[in-house]
Amino acid sequence: MARRVLHISDCHLVAPGETLLQTDTEATLRAVLEQAAGDAARNGCDAIIASGDLAHTPTVSVYQRFLRVVSDYFSVPILCLPGNHDVLHVMQEAGLPMDSIVWQDWHLQALDSHEDDKPKALVADRDRQVVVQGLKKGAAHSVLLATHHPLVEVDCPWLDKDRIVGPLELMNWLNNVSEQRIRGAVFGHAHQVVEGQVGVWPVFGVPSTGFQFRPHSAKFAVDDQGPGYQWLDLTDDKKIKRTVRRVES
Ligand SMILES: [Fe+2]
Repeated sequence: MARRVLHISDCHLVAPGETLLQTDTEATLRAVLEQAAGDAARNGCDAIIASGDLAHTPTVSVYQRFLRVVSDYFSVPILCLPGNHDVLHVMQEAGLPMDSIVWQDWHLQALDSHEDDKPKALVADRDRQVVVQGLKKGAAHSVLLATHHPLVEVDCPWLDKDRIVGPLELMNWLNNVSEQRIRGAVFGHAHQVVEGQVGVWPVFGVPSTGFQFRPHSAKFAVDDQGPGYQWLDLTDDKKIKRTVRRVES
């Protein structure tokens, strides 16, 4: 059966009462989740992918607040993965769900591209081995990969220097170890809409639930577009249909 997945990213939660780049990142996350819950009431939601930079201040209490905020709007399985502002062992200590979500037909698989305290992507051998283990769960016909860093250039040199290197080799390797089940990938980090292709695979970058980066900018620049998220319709014929939404109010 077709699945519908909510993809959120780059929430950058800070301590209660604090803001980041003049943004109350808990308020914008709540606005995203409230609108997405309205979408879900009409069209359903089977799971959530939260693709990193969930905290800007990576403490156990901030991560637990992230989970509480999400649970105020949704009670579906969630797959969290770390971004460059996250600290993996703190996420684990806080109990963030980080295991693959596996149905009969589709399999949501995270790939850890982060290193604690470093902006640059790094997919280490141990990260690949975690994916190999994850892919052994279930026998879905299709796998959607989720990572933090982009797998393609986003035309922002200050961001592009930190993207995942060798994406085609990586996707080919993943496709081999998954027995040709990879159908595409989603990622965060770019804080803007990205649509690209790696080999035969479509890849989709999602806006941030907080603040956006200006497209086509050589240097760091904040954009005035609103908080966003995307829906991923995973179809019976093994395709990924992506729909980006911005908070309207
Ligand atoms: Fe981010």
